[in-house]
Amino acid sequence: VSPRPDLIRREVLAGVAALTAGVWTTDSRAAGQGGRNPFTLGAASGSPTADGMVLWTRLAPDPLAADGLGGMTGPVPVRWEVAADEAMGQVVRSGAVQADGRFAHSVHVEVAGLKSDRPYWFRFSALGARTAIHRTRTLPAAGAAVGEVKLALATCAHWEVGYFSAYRHMAAENPDLIVFLGDYIYEYSYKGRKLPRRHDRAEDVVDLAGYRNRYALYKTDPDLQRLHATAPCVATWDDHEVENDYANRWSQDARVSEVAFLNRRAAAYQAFYENMPLRRRSIPMGPNMRLYDRFDYGGLAQITMPDGRQYRSQQPCGSATSRKGHVAPLSCADLADPTRTMLGLEQEKWVYDGFERSIARWNIIPQQVLFADFSESDRQGHVGRFTDGWGGYQAARTRMLQAIDQTRLKNPVMFTGDLHAFLTADLKADFSDPKSRTIASEFVAGSITSDGAPDSMIEDLPRNPHVHFMDNKAHGYISATLTPTRLETRYRAISDRFDPGATISTLKSYVVEDGRPGLMEA
Ligand SMILES: [Fe+2]
Repeated sequence: VSPRPDLIRREVLAGVAALTAGVWTTDSRAAGQGGRNPFTLGAASGSPTADGMVLWTRLAPDPLAADGLGGMTGPVPVRWEVAADEAMGQVVRSGAVQADGRFAHSVHVEVAGLKSDRPYWFRFSALGARTAIHRTRTLPAAGAAVGEVKLALATCAHWEVGYFSAYRHMAAENPDLIVFLGDYIYEYSYKGRKLPRRHDRAEDVVDLAGYRNRYALYKTDPDLQRLHATAPCVATWDDHEVENDYANRWSQDARVSEVAFLNRRAAAYQAFYENMPLRRRSIPMGPNMRLYDRFDYGGLAQITMPDGRQYRSQQPCGSATSRKGHVAPLSCADLADPTRTMLGLEQEKWVYDGFERSIARWNIIPQQVLFADFSESDRQGHVGRFTDGWGGYQAARTRMLQAIDQTRLKNPVMFTGDLHAFLTADLKADFSDPKSRTIASEFVAGSITSDGAPDSMIEDLPRNPHVHFMDNKAHGYISATLTPTRLETRYRAISDRFDPGATISTLKSYVVEDGRPGLMEA
């Protein structure tokens, strides 16, 4: 959401080739790696199910090689092992896949046939090297009774404005699941500012080599690697995985053609796929990629993770040159236009169908942008709604609230990214009426490092009685524990984003009780 000019370049996307499933090969011609460690980006696991998960790594002995290929050329066999114990003594599954240049030597191993609701450990080996042993875990079986689930949720990690200490502290909490709410990377770099560390390049990332290297840079961070070694993750994206405030096929810069922007989006989505533990069904087809997904913790929790960027309508009331987020006055008719959508009509139906079928005690919705209504003022003091969040898509927000209400969704809770502030809000049955029923709670995670939301939002708080708390100075993450009787949410703040050894403390904590919409301060 940072207001800034962009350099736009036309990029041509390589044609989409069919993926051939990797097979073991004895062919180890792998020119380019030169005996160096190919696992500089670590490993990760994610997309868990009750009997498996995806194991991920990407070979990159020279992670920032100019061509984006990490110093790799030919195909290389990569061996993987999954064990029932931490010392890797009892290997229960193993195999080999081929990494090649089509997907930047990334591998996505879909492991199945494991026991539900238990930890496993895994590692990769290739080119005479091995990754560290990583922990992962399976989900509970469908409908199973589950005593407790611990989530750690993170958003907005700009490499240049701090160290990823928050990721280190997340790892230390040993969560069952890590949830990324968007802005895992940033496509832009700061200019004219003294910073503790710099991106791999000063210009905006716009092409496949650029996005690949941006992920590579972030993945070299030891705190992020440590986090991925502790638990499986699920990830949705926000804007900065592609471009600030983009919407669907539209750049924030209204002068950029849809074709040019879709080429950029295709490169960005491909790099996202290559760098996340995603299933084959997420392999991008040109500029399109299926990301939204659902994860069940037995009968305890259903996690519905939407994609609020790829299918949304244009932001309302843009200018001839810019569509980027701004505070639009309530006279902007687009704000409430019922034909506009945040998720796209197909995804909306998928979300509401999932609500209808949910048997879970808790229904968790981790998503990108502020859902609660927020009446705010711009720099000139004009009051309105920020157009990039759900406030710019009010009819879609109403449809979501109605679906929650009409399906009698049990204990709905939203966890949100993007804002660069911790914020706590009641979600009202009628968001235009602060006295209407509370039907859900929203917890917004502060940024891992990114610069805080504007102070003017703090001044706007009295206009928003349903917002209980906001802190735009702290950086950190959310830790949440679910049990059959309650959800406890802790806002975890690091001591100093510029201190690589920053300590952690709890800024605020809340409890939501089963069957009682709304929150209490813990
Ligand atoms: Fe962000």
